[in-house]
Amino acid sequence: MANLGLRERYQRIAPFYDLLDFPFEHGRYRHIRPLLFAGLSGRILDAGVGTGCNIPFYPADACMTGIDLSPAMLARARQRAKAVGRTVDLQLMDVTRLDLPDDMFDAAVASFLFCVLPDESQPDALRELRRVIKPGGTLRLLEYIRPTGALRGFIARLWEPWMAFAYGAGFDRRTQAHLRNLGFEIVESRFVVDDLIQMIEVRID
Ligand SMILES: C[S@@+](CC[C@H](N)C(=O)[O-])C[C@H]1O[C@@H](n2cnc3c(N)ncnc32)[C@H](O)[C@@H]1O
Repeated sequence: MANLGLRERYQRIAPFYDLLDFPFEHGRYRHIRPLLFAGLSGRILDAGVGTGCNIPFYPADACMTGIDLSPAMLARARQRAKAVGRTVDLQLMDVTRLDLPDDMFDAAVASFLFCVLPDESQPDALRELRRVIKPGGTLRLLEYIRPTGALRGFIARLWEPWMAFAYGAGFDRRTQAHLRNLGFEIVESRFVVDDLIQMIEVRID
């Protein structure tokens, strides 16, 4: 049910998504997106591909699949793939129920998906990602979290109602706790923008 709400939300905002995100994309995200793909190769899944903002940063020789819950966001991703001349297998799919074979990918990435996914959906999403990544493969997440510092924490709290309203996103998701509860091996967890955006790397066993 929660995911149905997200689909409708992203169907509505797809035409404006890139415009809404423009200041963040140009000020912040385009500098950190390459980190998601550093050192990755082979077959890679981009979960919650959205309008395809990661596409220009895909490794040149990787075989890319992108999935998303919203057909309208995927349509934008298709346009972007075409515009940058990149072949991407883009499919309509829910990350909590992937219609993909076991061990299909060498790696999977998700940028700003887990700060949108409700906590109750996160264990299913993580189990599915683990299922489709080969043993020894990599999962990388780029996510907002609530800053711990007093000033930034205060600013984030002012900003959170807008994030929830516009994107269905929150800074309060317990993604690392879900990873630990499910027994994932967190190889690295580091801030890539202040103490606000974190990159988490997990090794699949
Ligand atoms: C904040 S956007 C991020 C898009 C893109 N990854 C980026 O970095 O710009 C979140 C995306 O996740 C998608 N999404 C939300 N819930 C999903 C689910 N259960 N399965 C797949 N995609 C989902 C939304 O449709 C939306 O395109």
